[in-house]
Amino acid sequence: MLILGTESSCDDTSVALLDCSAKGYFVLSEKTASQIDIHKKYGGVVPEIAGRMHAEKIIPLIEAVLENQPKPHAIAITSGPGLITGLLVGVEAARTLSYIRNIPLISTNHLEGHIYSTQIVEKKSETAAKKQTQFPALCLIVSGGHTELVLMKKHGSYKLLGATKDDAAGECFDKGAKLIGLPYPGGPQISKLALTGNTQAIHFPRPMIDNGDYNFSFSGLKTSALYWLRDHTLTDGTFEQTPNKLTIHDFCASFEQAIIDVLVYKTMHAAKKYNPKTIILGGGVSANKKLRESLQAEINTRFPTTDFQIPEFKYAMDNGAMIAAAGYHHALKKDFTSWKKITANPNWRLAA
Ligand code: KG4
Ligand code: ZN
Repeated sequence: MLILGTESSCDDTSVALLDCSAKGYFVLSEKTASQIDIHKKYGGVVPEIAGRMHAEKIIPLIEAVLENQPKPHAIAITSGPGLITGLLVGVEAARTLSYIRNIPLISTNHLEGHIYSTQIVEKKSETAAKKQTQFPALCLIVSGGHTELVLMKKHGSYKLLGATKDDAAGECFDKGAKLIGLPYPGGPQISKLALTGNTQAIHFPRPMIDNGDYNFSFSGLKTSALYWLRDHTLTDGTFEQTPNKLTIHDFCASFEQAIIDVLVYKTMHAAKKYNPKTIILGGGVSANKKLRESLQAEINTRFPTTDFQIPEFKYAMDNGAMIAAAGYHHALKKDFTSWKKITANPNWRLAA
């Protein structure tokens, strides 16, 4: 089944055509326009600018992706959660295409897309399909807007085990980065600088780590970093007032480690209770190599028979391919929404 996926919930306009079947999810054609360079100037995503940029890009991208390709069987779009300015653009573009070309529409949840991102394979001819997800699957979704642990009993069935009470993990990376003058998005910058730093140099708190539930909180960590920075002046990459001249690398490594420790601990805590056959890591923060390695190591040691699924780096950040992959399962069930009824849903929760 050929599924066209579109994504416009934040700062990437992305469109992809996938060939989906029981054999796997193969990308036939894809195009993405990132807005990062524009939002960087403002230190974060400006919703009005994002909406305008999506409106400029989405139709040319759809045209480019569909060029010389057969007609899709369905169009899957991100209807939520996300910024209303971007979601509306995606909804209107897809609604119009659906009406003109008589193609059914699938309203898709962005977080469901991140879960299915682990299954995407870039080119049909060259690469084999990914190992299929075995259920129950425990999903850790970590992005700029969300941090959730979700239990999946089968395709389309989601139970929320826990979520962040305040900032998302990606947001925490971004805010921490901003405090030391790094540009948006801060996650990749922090993880790069952290490579040569000492993770034990500064002891940042691990909020809510052993409170027994599966919820998260990251705003205290950000505040703790803010207070630490108030007492230690950063000059040319080195912190004054530290006896051993700690560097920006040490700060990044310690900050990153605090976030990773909480994410890994909570995921293992949930795995112990729910005994998943698969653990899935998805969302922009899943691009973090240390998080991938730490989770993999813990799973190998504590749950050696559990399969660990992560997206290719390319599909960790927002993309249209993951929306098509998630939409495929709705298409199988004929879970379509009429072009007359489809709407943007900025606060759509994947699971309760
Ligand atoms: O999923 P995503 O592309 O957009 C949302 O749905 O929010 O996630 C973006 C987030 C940003 O906060 C960004 O800093 C974070 O993912 N991120 C990372 C890394 N790469 C992207 N965080 C930590 N380490 C990385 N390597
Ligand atoms: Zn995302």
